[in-house]
Amino acid sequence: MQVLESVPPTAPGKATVRAGSNIAFIKYWGVDDATINLPQNNSISMTLADAHTTTTLQWLDQGLAATDEITLDGTRLDAHRAARLVRHLDRIRALAGIDWRVRVVSQNNFPMASGIASSASGFAALTTAACYALGLELSATRLSALARRGSGSASRSLFGGFVEWERGQDDVTSVAHQLYPAEHWALYDVVAVVSGAEKAVSSEQGHGLAASSPLNAGRVASVPQALDEVRAAIAQRDLARLGPVIEQDALAMHAVMMTSTPSLFYWQPGTLEIIHALHAWRAQDGLQAYFTIDAGPNLHILCEEADIVAVQTRLATLTSVQQVIVSRPGPAPLLLDEPLF
Ligand code: PMV
Repeated sequence: MQVLESVPPTAPGKATVRAGSNIAFIKYWGVDDATINLPQNNSISMTLADAHTTTTLQWLDQGLAATDEITLDGTRLDAHRAARLVRHLDRIRALAGIDWRVRVVSQNNFPMASGIASSASGFAALTTAACYALGLELSATRLSALARRGSGSASRSLFGGFVEWERGQDDVTSVAHQLYPAEHWALYDVVAVVSGAEKAVSSEQGHGLAASSPLNAGRVASVPQALDEVRAAIAQRDLARLGPVIEQDALAMHAVMMTSTPSLFYWQPGTLEIIHALHAWRAQDGLQAYFTIDAGPNLHILCEEADIVAVQTRLATLTSVQQVIVSRPGPAPLLLDEPLF
């Protein structure tokens, strides 16, 4: 089923969009249908204000270009590296009934290998810019469904603040919606980077391996209750309630990864060093900070504004922390007036 009707585009235009990345509190890990990125379970995330992708996209009328020209963080992508993005543009071309190519310049304001999901902000920005530039007036819900096809977590970056992606049943119903706007709660995501190395196995490949873990069914069965807890904790702005649930789901997801065939082991020694340190800071000093981990070795530490300095000061004492990136909750994708070219 198609998400969008085929709407004739007005003219090949140009648009610039900034979209925030997001950090999941309850994770998306594993797909029931890989062709449309239909997840096994709902997920909940916070869109990030300070980790974003800005994308300028221009449609080029027939004859002007034979291939899509995509530049990411200053580097022109070769056919191999551009393939996933071109596949996504092909979906949009098919929906709009066009065969125009594009010129894209995209810029992350965070290092690609920082443990912040560039695919989420990247596909949210690309999808939104591509549709705007075609004059397609699509709701955020429809853009969410379309962005999901590029990268599942991108479906959540179409909304600001605190967001839930409903598993749904198919390509139309598997979409995200906002639970609360960014202003609801000044929660901070402090990313402790322990390794900037590019991951050996992408999350796209990893989703296909989840079902091979004997622990997968157990994790998926535990998610509905965890989602209830997370919704309630966000509603009440209760970090002491949110923290233990998000830590458990991150650990459950990594247990699934580690016990998949083949095993996916994203942790580094530094990952464990920070987990132990965080436990000690909470137990001994009462520091209110909790972690989650995506498909990589870096920790995302969630805390409130009052504890930002304490968290940063403590992280600076750990030898394995290479870099720290701090972000607040952020808005939905924004249309910008200043193009990148
Ligand atoms: O959207 P993807 O395919 O990059 O998957 C994201 C997977 C996690 O970041 C590990 C979890 C999540 O829900 O964001």
